[in-house]
Amino acid sequence: MVPPVTVEELRQTFLRFFEAQGHRRIPSSSLIPYGDPTLLFTTAGMVQFKPYFMGLEDAPAPRLTSIQKCFRTTDVEEVGDESHLTFFEMLGNFSIGDYFKEDAIGWAWLFMTDELDIPVERLWATVYTDDNEAFELWRRLGVPAERILRYSAEQGNYWYSGEVGPCGPCSELHYDFGETPGCAECEGESCHPDVGCGRFLEVWNLVFMTYSQDENGEKLPLPTQNIDTGAGLERIAAVLQGVRTVYETDELRGVLAEAETITDRIYDPDGDPGVLAAQRRRLGS
Ligand code: GLY
Repeated sequence: MVPPVTVEELRQTFLRFFEAQGHRRIPSSSLIPYGDPTLLFTTAGMVQFKPYFMGLEDAPAPRLTSIQKCFRTTDVEEVGDESHLTFFEMLGNFSIGDYFKEDAIGWAWLFMTDELDIPVERLWATVYTDDNEAFELWRRLGVPAERILRYSAEQGNYWYSGEVGPCGPCSELHYDFGETPGCAECEGESCHPDVGCGRFLEVWNLVFMTYSQDENGEKLPLPTQNIDTGAGLERIAAVLQGVRTVYETDELRGVLAEAETITDRIYDPDGDPGVLAAQRRRLGS
C-alpha cells in the first residue's frame, strides 16, 4: 500500500480507514458552534457532537468520523512556531457509548504505522498519570515502556472541551524528529515530549470522554463512556512530507510563497528571519 503524501490524500485515507471500521462520515460543521452558548468558536472535532456525548440527543450512529475545520485562540501565543495554527483541520474518530480505550488506541496505532507507514520507533505515547489500562494497551502494541510517559493534567493529559462541558483523561501520540542540537536533555538521553525542545510533535490526542464539568468545576459522569480523538491534519502532513513546519506542507507552501513575495523576505525556519530577499539575492545565497 502506498501511503498518502498530499494533504488531500491524507484526508481521504483517514476517512476511508475509519469508515472501514464502521464509522459514519460526518461533514465539518460551522466554525460558529450551533446552539452552544459556552463556546465562541468550533475548537475541536467533538464540538458538534457534544449533545450526543451529554445524552441530550441521539447520535446518527454510535461511530462517527469527520475532518473538522477548527479555530482556536487558546494557544494563540504559540502560533508562529513550527506547528500551531489558529485555523486548522482536525481528523477525528468518535465513539458515542460504543468502543472505548482498546479500539481507540489500536486503530490510532494501526493507522499511523500501517496505513501511513510511519516507523514505529518514531512514535512515543503519553497516558494520564494513573491510567494503567492505557499504558498496558500501548505496551501490548509493542511500544517500549520508556517511550510511554505518564503526564499530568498540567502536562496536557486531561482534555476539556471548554470551561464547562465534556472532558476526560487523554492519551497522546508524539512523533520524534530526532535529537535537537544543543538540547541538554537530548544529549543526556532523557528528552521527552514535554521538554519542548522541538524534537517532538504531538500528532494525535485520544480523549477518554467520561465526565462533564459544570459551572462550579465539578465533574459529573457522562451517561456513557465515549471516545473523542483529534489528530492534526497539517502536522501529520508535515511528518509525511518530511518537513519540519506546517507552513511547508503542500497546503500552505503557496501561502508562504505569496507572503515571501509581498514582504520581499525569504522564509527560512533555520535562518535569520530579518534577511530581505533583495539582500539575499545580492549576497548570492
Ligand atoms: N478533542 C480532542 C482534541 O482537541 O485534542
